Amino acid sequence: MTGAGVSAASGVPTFRGPEGLWRSFRPEDLATPSAFERDPALVWEWYAWRRAKVASCQPNAAHEVLARWSQHESTQVRVVTQNVDDLHLRAGTRDLIRLHGSLWEIKCFNGCAAGVRAWRDEVLTVTERLPRCPHCGGLARPAVVWFGESLDAADVARASQAASCDVFLTVGTSAIVYPAAGFARIAQARGAFIAEINLEQTPASAFADAAVLGAAEDVLPTLDQLLAAG
Ligand code: OAD
Repeated sequence: MTGAGVSAASGVPTFRGPEGLWRSFRPEDLATPSAFERDPALVWEWYAWRRAKVASCQPNAAHEVLARWSQHESTQVRVVTQNVDDLHLRAGTRDLIRLHGSLWEIKCFNGCAAGVRAWRDEVLTVTERLPRCPHCGGLARPAVVWFGESLDAADVARASQAASCDVFLTVGTSAIVYPAAGFARIAQARGAFIAEINLEQTPASAFADAAVLGAAEDVLPTLDQLLAAG
């Protein structure tokens, strides 16, 4: 289970902490359905700004190690992420589960039947002509999970299945946003060994079997080398 800390070394801002997005922006102005209803142009501007930021970033060593692990047939590693930047995908992660959606996909804001399925959209600048749903002509919105919204049930089911595992790593997440934060406990109840990698202690540190204080982009490559050495 990864969070914003995994992309920090790539230059993508995290949400919490001194430099976090939620220090400078109020979620209720930008990341809720009612914010979009009130001022879709403002919300689109914020997402275009985030897209432009991510577009100039590259996956780092943490993404690369996880991608390689996900490609091994024998190890059966599944990556579940809260990140919407798609850097895991760009690193080549297989069968990625994106619990909070993607910055690079949009869907119909009205929720029309054909427009609920997200489609790719990589536009970096907002014009007066905001993105529209090709099916009903209504406004299109970023296909990310906003505050007060439910996660996609199929993604939750896949994450839950992935939480039936031997080892559960929680990496670079403050472990406070549910339901994502709950999967480590679920995995532990099913017998998994829980290891956390984070620069600081989080609520998960208290019940993790191992809490490694360190940067994901350093610790994961070290772990990879140790595993390769047997
Ligand atoms: P946060 O910003 O809440 O937490 C980032 C975590 O990464 C913190 O615990 C940092 O200590 C840690 N961290 C920072 N740099 C790191 C590094 N190089 N290596 C390891 N750890 C590092 O981000 P998330 O936990 O991902 O939701 O936030 C969860 C959700 O809250 C997000 O997905 C977003 C937000 O509101 C939605 O957009 C729905």
